[in-house]
Amino acid sequence: MQQAFDAALAALYQTFATAAALREFALLPDKPRFVPLQVQANPVAQLMGACALLPGPESAALFAAARMLAPFGNWRSSYTEEQVGRHFLDNFAYVELVGPEGHFESPEMSAYLLYMGPNMHYRRHWHEAEELYYIIAGEAEFQVDGEAPALLGAGDSRLHMSNQPHQTWTRDSAVVCLVLWRGEGVGEGVEMEAAPNA
Ligand SMILES: [Fe+2]
Repeated sequence: MQQAFDAALAALYQTFATAAALREFALLPDKPRFVPLQVQANPVAQLMGACALLPGPESAALFAAARMLAPFGNWRSSYTEEQVGRHFLDNFAYVELVGPEGHFESPEMSAYLLYMGPNMHYRRHWHEAEELYYIIAGEAEFQVDGEAPALLGAGDSRLHMSNQPHQTWTRDSAVVCLVLWRGEGVGEGVEMEAAPNA
C-alpha cells in the first residue's frame, strides 16, 4: 500500500522536474515523512481508479500514479451535503498527497490530487492560500471574478491569488488536476458562496 504513495510522490517530483509552472510556484519538501492516515470511504476512489481519460505527455506518470493510489487515498472535500448536494460529494474529491494533513507531511505547502466528474459546477469559492491548478487529464473551464472563463486541458495551469474568488465547470469530460497551495492559509479551509436557491 505504501508503495502506491511512494510511486505517487516520485511521479510528483518527476512532474515538477518537467513542468516549470509547478517549480516556480512552490518547492516540494525533501523526503517528507509518510503519515499513516485513517482513510475515509469515498465513491470518488472508484471513479478515479477507473478513470480512462488521456493524460498529456508531461502528466502521464502522475495520472498513472493517481489511478494506482485511488483505492488507498484519503479522498475528501471541504464541503457538506447541505452546501453542495449529494451529487457533488459523490463526484468531487481530492487526496492531500503532501501537506499539513497529507499522506506526506509538509507544514508549508500542499499538493492535492483532485477529481471532478463531468457536467459539474464547482461554485464560486475563495481561500487565503495562493493556489495553482495544473491539469493532469481531461478539461474544465476556470473563471476568476472579472475575467472570461478559460478552457484548460492537460498540461495547462492556472493561478489563483489569495482570497481571489474562482469557480470551475466541467463539460462532458471529467477532469483530474494537481492542486498546489502555498503561503498563509495552507492547512486552512475554503469559503464558498451560498447556492442560488439556498
Ligand atoms: Fe481554490
